[in-house]
Amino acid sequence: MDIRPTGEALGARIFGVDLSKPVADGDFRTILRALGEHGVIVFPRQTIETEDLVRFGQMFGDLEINVANLFHEPDHPEVMILSNMKKDGKPIGLGDAGQGWHTDMSYSKDIALANVLYAMKVPIREGRPLGDTQFRNMHAAYENLPDDIKKRVEGRSATHDFIKFWDMMRAKPGSTRGPLTAEQRRQKPPVSQPIVQTHPITGRKILYCNPGYAMVIDGMDQAESDELLDYLFKHQEQPKFFYAHKWTEGDVLMWDNIGTVHNAIPDYGPDEPRYMRRIQVMATKNYAKLAA
Ligand code: SIN
Repeated sequence: MDIRPTGEALGARIFGVDLSKPVADGDFRTILRALGEHGVIVFPRQTIETEDLVRFGQMFGDLEINVANLFHEPDHPEVMILSNMKKDGKPIGLGDAGQGWHTDMSYSKDIALANVLYAMKVPIREGRPLGDTQFRNMHAAYENLPDDIKKRVEGRSATHDFIKFWDMMRAKPGSTRGPLTAEQRRQKPPVSQPIVQTHPITGRKILYCNPGYAMVIDGMDQAESDELLDYLFKHQEQPKFFYAHKWTEGDVLMWDNIGTVHNAIPDYGPDEPRYMRRIQVMATKNYAKLAA
């Protein structure tokens, strides 16, 4: 296996792994460590089936079945389709990119380790790929916090709520999302998450607080909480934490969903097809032990 770091705030390209075949245990450990170290890893030029994606993801943990469960592969509710394409005038995937910065599943009591996307169609305009997925490095964001802010957030938690992001996305023109049902609200009540967490692979501290879902810092009055959350969100925006993945068809992109925040860029039109298969790996294993 050949791991080539981008030299940027995040990211590495991994060659010499064929994901259409089972990954050996030793290679799995190397990939897990690379995920912790580089945050965003890509396996270029893959040709894989849904079953291969599922088998690869399951090595890292249980796969999530999304509470909204809008579009998925037949017989695979855990494999979501992200696409702006239509069949018979109807959407075939969740197509509302342009999300704003967030961390998937921070609204859930059980959080997600990683996302894995397989790019089957990437829009290209004038030779340039569109629909970048952007990331920010939350290991570096924590380490770069001033000491007084580190003290203010240490031991604190914030409440994250699924509906914050859902309703923001729903309000966008062309969204296919309906209002959350009472049952979906019951399944995903607001949850508290520590703002500073120890990363399960690297053992280093990270800032776990994203503008998509974090609503309020627990135990603070709203004004003080707004001021501190604003500070934390602006702090994350520094270019030194930023990395953008430019897609090529055949990429299998995996990102550390605990140590990064991400954002999908909607710079392509309805006639510029994008199609991704996506799985989400829940943090259900002892990663420190597995990576050792
Ligand atoms: C996601 O947020 O999981 C999707 C990212 C993308 O479509 O690029």
